[in-house]
Amino acid sequence: MHRKKVYIETYGCQMNVSDSEVVLSILQDAGYDRTLEMDGADLILVNTCSIRDNAEQRIWGRLEQMHSPRRRGAAVGILGCMAERLKDKLIESGKVDLVAGPDAYRKLPSLLENLSPGNPRIDVLLSHEETYADIVPVRTDRNGVSAFISIMRGCNNVCSYCVVPYTRGAERSRDPETIVAEARDVFSKGYREVTLLGQNVDSYLWKSARETVNFAELLRRVAATDPLLRVRFATSHPKDISDEVIDTMASTPNICRHIHLPVQSGSSRMLELMRRKYDRQWYLERVRKIREAMQDCGLTTDVIAGFCSETEEDHAETLSLMEEVGFDWAFMFEYSERPGTLAARHYPDDVPPEVKKRRLNEIIELQNRKSLESYRADIGRELEVLVEGPSKRNGREMCGRASSSKMCVFPGQNLKPGDYVTVKVIDATSATLICTLMNR
Ligand code: SAH
Ligand code: SF4
Ligand code: F3S
Repeated sequence: MHRKKVYIETYGCQMNVSDSEVVLSILQDAGYDRTLEMDGADLILVNTCSIRDNAEQRIWGRLEQMHSPRRRGAAVGILGCMAERLKDKLIESGKVDLVAGPDAYRKLPSLLENLSPGNPRIDVLLSHEETYADIVPVRTDRNGVSAFISIMRGCNNVCSYCVVPYTRGAERSRDPETIVAEARDVFSKGYREVTLLGQNVDSYLWKSARETVNFAELLRRVAATDPLLRVRFATSHPKDISDEVIDTMASTPNICRHIHLPVQSGSSRMLELMRRKYDRQWYLERVRKIREAMQDCGLTTDVIAGFCSETEEDHAETLSLMEEVGFDWAFMFEYSERPGTLAARHYPDDVPPEVKKRRLNEIIELQNRKSLESYRADIGRELEVLVEGPSKRNGREMCGRASSSKMCVFPGQNLKPGDYVTVKVIDATSATLICTLMNR
């Protein structure tokens, strides 16, 4: 049978990267091989993100550039969150042949069979059950060391600014047996690290006639796969991260000591409007608990600047919280109103763009200083690192992450990706630990 070529581009979060791996697996079974060149592909797929307006604008721009391959006969398909959100608008644009939402990937082969110019196909039905649990993803990572495993889909929170519940649908957890099987499978293929993915991993809950498995139990089971398999996870929600999860991390050596704990704002008034369901004090208490259990735990966060009605006082509270906690790094954004969300319906987007920008810059500046402080505090320490491959900046050096998730570079021509080494930190920038090798 003649096999066709599929080219796929992925935008947005890690969840989308994972989904693209599922899509490639489904398409492989339907007669498609992956190509890394857009030119010459029979099918061009774009797995899209809607989280902020600029994410969508970027994709509209990219679609323009797909005009000429499309004229030469390639089909263009839009997947992911923007497909879900803008369905008909994408079809009406005349720029695409296929629109498939995040829960419609099993139907891609049949949608593609009936594709013809001028007859675009669409499936954006969301599901309460789909987890793609039985599909073995085609790994697209470059290093062969670190794999991502999706443990749940959707989100049941209603953070007022956020489009994800609308694009990804209701939360559902994946059968733990299939998760553990996937971890074993990647380990047997040489991977040494898995990251368990969900919008809110702490609310992972599997119930069957036989058993109930919560996130802490899932962590224990995945970690039990092999002591040489590192386990990471993202994202934790401050309202849901439990003492049991924190204590499980503290007592299990191969669960990495890093928690990504998006705070969004340091002002309790903003957190209330954002419907995050915790306040500043609760957040700081969780941080205290984490540090009490694991003094060396890496902590990172997400922050939104200029949410509806944010005052200078609210903003100052965000800065003071960041000062107090001292995150290792952070993703920092200007608020972007998303149509259809609670915030878009109920609160005016009233912080002027230049004020958002200034506040964001102040947040970034503060974080850069705190990152440098945090990385420099590791100078002199010995850390265990999982080697990922040659360093990007200097090909003669290797790089890999410490348990805290901080990136380390070190000399090591005889090292292979997947090796564990002990390094000593001798210098630091705000994003990299510069290390020497300890004897092995
Ligand atoms: N489920 C995760 C995050 C998902 S989105 C959580 O709850 O933490 C990733 C980040 O994008 C969010 O943490 C938030 O900081 C940011 N974000 C989401 N919607 C946004 C919006 N409308 N404008 C700006 N940033 C937004
Ligand atoms: Fe969005 Fe909130 Fe769900 Fe995260 S927890 S995906 S921010 S609604
Ligand atoms: Fe974007 Fe959807 Fe992820 S909106 S951040 S791709 S869940």
